[in-house]
Amino acid sequence: MNSPKHIVLVAAARPNFMKIAPIYAALRQYPRLLAPHIVHTGQHYDYYMSKVFFDELGLPEPAAHLDVGSGTHGAQTGRVLERFEQYLLNHPVDLVIVVGDVNSTAAAALAAAKLHIPVAHVEAGLRSGDRRMPEELNRLMADCLADILYTPSPDAARNLRAEGVPEDKIVFVGNVMVDTLMKFLPRADDSTLLERLQLPPGDYAVLTMHRPENVDDRQQIQLLADLIEQVSAIMPLVFPIHPRSAKNLSALLPQRHWDKIVANADLRLIDPLGYLDFLCLQKNARVVLTDSGGIQEETTILGVPCLTLRENTERPVTITHGTNTLVGLHPGRVADLVRRASPADTVPERPEKWDGKAALRIVEHLLQYFACPTTADPVTTRHRPAEVVA
Ligand code: UD1
Repeated sequence: MNSPKHIVLVAAARPNFMKIAPIYAALRQYPRLLAPHIVHTGQHYDYYMSKVFFDELGLPEPAAHLDVGSGTHGAQTGRVLERFEQYLLNHPVDLVIVVGDVNSTAAAALAAAKLHIPVAHVEAGLRSGDRRMPEELNRLMADCLADILYTPSPDAARNLRAEGVPEDKIVFVGNVMVDTLMKFLPRADDSTLLERLQLPPGDYAVLTMHRPENVDDRQQIQLLADLIEQVSAIMPLVFPIHPRSAKNLSALLPQRHWDKIVANADLRLIDPLGYLDFLCLQKNARVVLTDSGGIQEETTILGVPCLTLRENTERPVTITHGTNTLVGLHPGRVADLVRRASPADTVPERPEKWDGKAALRIVEHLLQYFACPTTADPVTTRHRPAEVVA
């Protein structure tokens, strides 16, 4: 019997963990054919930015930790490139799977591609059209290096075609984050977070904000402070705060504004939450305000109105088929929409293939990929996918 194909899943930062969890679980269904390994780059390292997700999602201890930590984009990306290359040189690897658009995604894809190891990118083809966003550059880089591009929505394939990506590299599988959401939603109902924060179900707003363009700039931080003041005057506002935003809010706001925020009784300024608590928080919210990509998708599935505090989105399907509205960081406009938000605003349609089966589609494709290679480096296995499934 041939030895199983060694597949490395790269985990790095908070939004990655819920994407790799269903893929890891699906790959594990074929132990004679596929051997998945998780490599954690260490881009996120605080308990509530990383370990809590491994615990809650049932992910195993990673096969390796690269411990790259924080730093400038160049430093962080460079450390992943160097350390992941070392990992790849010391282990037999048949495929590297990268997810999303963080610095580690692009760096790991580059390390693998330079060693001629095939790369699959999950969540390929999303484009905001805004090259000032580090994530957009990471997406472009990962997609241009990947041998397999797993797309979450039809717009993603259109973007890739327009960039000249060959059709046979593009595989429309749907959204792996939705797999995790659907699996864990029942468990999120057991969360006691609302009682702990004394929040009335269906009658509070949630805010998340961490994009550099929103929180690294003094003027934007001032707008964020105004927005917090205006929205919390309408209904209780919960703000689980990302370390980057916490650091910048306290550093860039005048002291008296920061003191006012901390003293605001209608604002629950709390540490980042684990996956289950945050799912519970979103599900029961009247409205969610965010600059995150994943939250635009999760609110679409939960049927909760989402106001995206950016000028663009790489996830247009959450607007056309979901509950998302692009608003920008405009406190008055946001407050108006918060006043009017109700679940009745939401559209009951789901984007195509956002059905909890995206990871299964990826693994079905990989079984074919390894059994019937289209690359110059043939992979031999006596097992055909149909035999294995049977
Ligand atoms: C990264 C991703 C972003 C993703 C976000 C989710 C890039 C370019 N950005 O942004 O796409 O939406 O993760 O959170 O890859 N820090 C801690 N503890 C941690 C991690 C970070 O305190 O566990 C602090 C550090 O001071 C660090 C700062 O947060 O400098 C920013 O972390 P970094 O990984 O550079 O980017 P994020 O803003 O988290």
